Amino acid sequence: MIQNLEAEVLATEQVGAGVYLLHLYAPDVAGSAQPGQFVHIRCSETTDPLLRRPLSIHDLGKEGELIFLYQVKGRGTAWLARQEPGSKIDILGPLGRGFTLPASKINIRIALVAGGLGVVPLLFLARRARARGYEVDFFYGAQNGERLFQAAALRALDINLHIATDDGSAGWSGPVTKLWEQYLQAGDYDRAYACGPRAELKEFARLAGEAAIPAEVSLEERMACGLGACRGCVTALRDTPGNRYYENVCTGGPVFDAATVDWED
Ligand SMILES: Cc1cc2nc3c(=O)[nH]c(=O)nc-3n(C[C@H](O)[C@H](O)[C@H](O)COP(=O)(O)OP(=O)(O)OC[C@H]3O[C@@H](n4cnc5c(N)ncnc54)[C@H](O)[C@@H]3O)c2cc1C
Ligand code: FES
Repeated sequence: MIQNLEAEVLATEQVGAGVYLLHLYAPDVAGSAQPGQFVHIRCSETTDPLLRRPLSIHDLGKEGELIFLYQVKGRGTAWLARQEPGSKIDILGPLGRGFTLPASKINIRIALVAGGLGVVPLLFLARRARARGYEVDFFYGAQNGERLFQAAALRALDINLHIATDDGSAGWSGPVTKLWEQYLQAGDYDRAYACGPRAELKEFARLAGEAAIPAEVSLEERMACGLGACRGCVTALRDTPGNRYYENVCTGGPVFDAATVDWED
């Protein structure tokens, strides 16, 4: 159930250039949060900026704790980075439709492909998948080694972690989708999931389609209400006959079947 409440800041931790981990105490939201869902955050004590800012749920900490990983982009996220432990933040969530894991529990193998801060919702998904006993191949790409966040937390999940960087400063050198492609044929994946820049998601969807693997992607659009009321966040999809239609990212997503996204839009 969607909650609107004042969450207490437990800690803010800088983990890179303009990148922060935020720990909030919000048991009513944490209790029902699913991987791929997001929280809409009022980033001000006043009405300026007026609109809330969406952040995906990155992980759950100890009881009642929500963890976010974000990049400071503008006024909203800069305000968030200034909040001290003990501050109260107005949050709305959990919102949106998250990832769907396979119903079966036997011999399931999944691939997760993260580009940059696309690691945010996929760490939470990897944790849930491991809790169900699934084998997880996690492909994580970044510009360089300094832009790889939460690698230790990922390794602690007992997953198969494959790193790629654009400049080769850590792991394989090149786009993360190319690295995934090398494992794809032998991988025999039951499902694949991705989050990252749109160009990378498009290539991920193409590869998953060719390999006939059911795949889901988490999309981003600028958001206002976050509740499906303003239609400010629509994205183009295609139905089976190929007709284009539009769906709110905040309520119909942010996670979509990769085969339905209109990548030419
Ligand atoms: C469902 C969802 C989940 C998200 N989860 C995360 C997350 O976990 N971590 C994270 O770092 N960011 C995430 N984002 C992006 C984040 O919401 C924006 O960076 C944030 O709202 C920027 O607010 P601001 O006031 O700091 O910057 P603004 O002043 O509003 O904008 C600064 C710059 O960022 C661009 N921008 C703002 N919002 C978006 C957006 N949604 N998509 C693309 N560009 C944008 C603007 O065009 C502008 O150039 C998510 C976005 C969505 C839609
Ligand atoms: S943000 Fe208002 S409908 Fe999605």
